[in-house]
This record gives sequence, structure tokens and C-alpha cells, in this order.
Amino acid sequence: MNNMKYLIIYAHPDSEGHCSTILSEVKKRLDEKKDEYEVIDLYKIKYDPVLTEEELYGVKQRKLTNINKQMQEKISKAERIILIYPVWWNSMPAILKGFFDRVFTSGFAFRYKPVIPSMIRTKLLMRWAFVTKFDYGIPVPLLRGKEAIVFLTTGSPKIAFFINGNRFKKVIKRDTLGFFGIKTKIYHIDNCRALNKYQIAKIKKNVKRAIN
Ligand SMILES: Cc1cc2nc3c(=O)[nH]c(=O)nc-3n(C[C@H](O)[C@H](O)[C@H](O)COP(=O)(O)O)c2cc1C
Repeated sequence: MNNMKYLIIYAHPDSEGHCSTILSEVKKRLDEKKDEYEVIDLYKIKYDPVLTEEELYGVKQRKLTNINKQMQEKISKAERIILIYPVWWNSMPAILKGFFDRVFTSGFAFRYKPVIPSMIRTKLLMRWAFVTKFDYGIPVPLLRGKEAIVFLTTGSPKIAFFINGNRFKKVIKRDTLGFFGIKTKIYHIDNCRALNKYQIAKIKKNVKRAIN
């Protein structure tokens, strides 16, 4: 019987490192559980992360390319999203950042609700500098009910982040997925310098915990 629908987003150019081992383990576990999944390998499909001027939500006739429309459809259908990527410069690889910029658009992943209800939004009222200045709108998440599992790898050991802070976790959990209403659990694989038996054991343990 097929259970949960997973969408795996893989953002690493390498097919032999820690991230690829995580991907293989995740697929193995999902196969065992007979869960349905699809992998989007951003480097393999040569995903273009550069957002164009026509795609900006400030423009009148905003464009959404076919590929990004397809991505949105896949995200809509998925119950759980699994992200696998290395931490680069305390953040995510640019290809994944661009994926968020172009796919998780307003109207799809979030929207802004006006602070002033439309009933009292008269033309006269809108002329007031006070009203127009402060009616920014409240962000409303549109992807509530979905869950995400994020596997992150870092070259540094966890102790370094205990000292320097975990901005790379906040940016994905709170500022990005959290903004869309997606509940997220992060699994951080640290000390990723050489893929030895200890690192492989650590990956297996984390993937087992995450998927089960
Ligand atoms: C461009 C680049 C930037 C990196 N920035 C960081 C960083 O900010 N913090 C860190 O701990 N490791 C950093 N690293 C190391 C990677 O996180 C590490 O090599 C990777 O997580 C190992 O996983 P892999 O075997 O799948 O490549 C960086 C590596 C590269 C190539």
C-alpha cells in the first residue's frame, strides 16, 4: 500500500559525498516503507536559479515559467518535502536559493492580507498618507499542513555552531519554510570532511530517525 507522498529536493553537484549518501539512504528507507516519492536533482536538471525581472511580484503581468509551474504542482501534491544540501557560507547553495526565489511565489506559498479591511478602504481614506504608509499587509502562509525534513551537512563540527550560532538553520526553518507555513525538522550532519565509516553510520542513524 502506498503511504505518504514525498518530494525530495537534492541540491549538490557531487554524487559521491555525504549528501549523496543521505539521498541513497532516504530512497532506501522510503522504498522499504513503500512510500511514494519523486526526486528533483537540481544540478542534474540544470535548474536555472536566476530570477528575471518579469518574475518579480511587483510587475503588472508577472510571469511564471513552465518549469516553475511544474515545480509548484509537484509541491502542491507532496505531503512531505525532503531537502538535502550542504551548508555553503552558512546558508544554502545558490541553486537552491534560486529555486525558492522562483518557485515559492506570492499567491502560491504566501500572500499579504491588507491590514485595513476593503470595506473601509475608500479612495478618500487611501489618500491619507498615514494609511498608505502603514498598510503593508500581514503575511499569510499558504502551504500549511505540509511538513519538511531538512538534511544539512557542514564541514565544521557542531561545537563551532554552538559558539558562532546556527543562522543556517534559522534561514531555512523560520525565514523560508516557516514563512510558507511548512513545519520543519532539521537533521544536521556535521564534521563532513571525509566520508568514512563513522560518518556513514551517523547518516544512517539520522535518516532512520527522520523517516521512521
Ligand atoms: C562553497 C563552499 C562553502 C562552504 N561553506 C561552509 C560553511 O559556511 N560552513 C561549514 O561548516 N562548511 C562549509 N563548507 C563545507 C561543506 O559544508 C562540506 O564540504 C559539505 O557539507 C560536505 O558534504 P558533501 O560531502 O556532501 O559535499 C563549504 C564548502 C563549499 C564548497
